[in-house]
Amino acid sequence: MNLILLGPPGAGKGTQSVLLERHFGIPQISTGDMLRTAVKAATPMGTQAKGFMDAGNLVPDHVVVGIVRERLQETDCLAGFILDGFPRTVAQADALSESLSQLSRALDAVISLQVDTDALVERLTGRRTCKDCGKGYHLKFDPPAVNGSCSVCSGELVQRDDDHEETIRRRMDTYHQQTAPLEQYYSQSGLLVKIDGMDAIDDVHRSILAYLQAS
Ligand code: AP5
Ligand code: MG
Ligand code: ZN
Repeated sequence: MNLILLGPPGAGKGTQSVLLERHFGIPQISTGDMLRTAVKAATPMGTQAKGFMDAGNLVPDHVVVGIVRERLQETDCLAGFILDGFPRTVAQADALSESLSQLSRALDAVISLQVDTDALVERLTGRRTCKDCGKGYHLKFDPPAVNGSCSVCSGELVQRDDDHEETIRRRMDTYHQQTAPLEQYYSQSGLLVKIDGMDAIDDVHRSILAYLQAS
């Protein structure tokens, strides 16, 4: 199963990827998570990426294309993969298609999560992430058992650096200008499936599985 999860900031790409990873036993490949790891480790790539991310802009295509190309060659991707937050531009989508054909692989579906803008803002402002294991929460929709502390590892829950109002607005604009055209791109190749992302987390998961099982 080779999947892409597409959708604006806060649509639930990360949340649904983790559930699909568990269901199918194939890895989630989140370029956002990989970039945040590089920022935290202060690698040269992370240092370069940080400015773009803090501003709510995209990191240059060649940087993310290189990361994903390498990641897809790892053995755990042989049974499939879930791309979360990649591709985000037509150039990235073209590069992905080239990488996959070199590996004799093909995409099975591009799942586009449909969520209203008001709901996106509420999801992003209420999101918290475990500082130690990276597990995601939402203060209202997916709260931890103990306030401020991760239910898995007891790590501290923190807000992402780019989850502040001004950056959220910029990320939304970036999505509409540079990433939304990918719906049309993948619709032309018959891979696009729109899933209602406004339902509760488990219901969205069930909708995705129902589509994949029927297709
Ligand atoms: P990235 O980390 O990918 O951020 P994003 O696209 O803005 O998306 P988010 O991670 O914010 O949202 P999500 O859809 O994963 O939602 P989540 O599941 O967490 O990218 C960050 C930055 O890195 C970019 O701005 C860019 O600079 C750079 N970057 C990354 N990839 C790049 C690329 N390919 N090219 C160039 N630059 C790149 O859910 C959000 C919240 O809502 C959570 O709290 C969750 O619990 C809650 N929630 C989820 N689903 C539901 C539901 N159904 N009902 C209620 N609450 C829900
Ligand atoms: Mg995410
Ligand atoms: Zn944790």
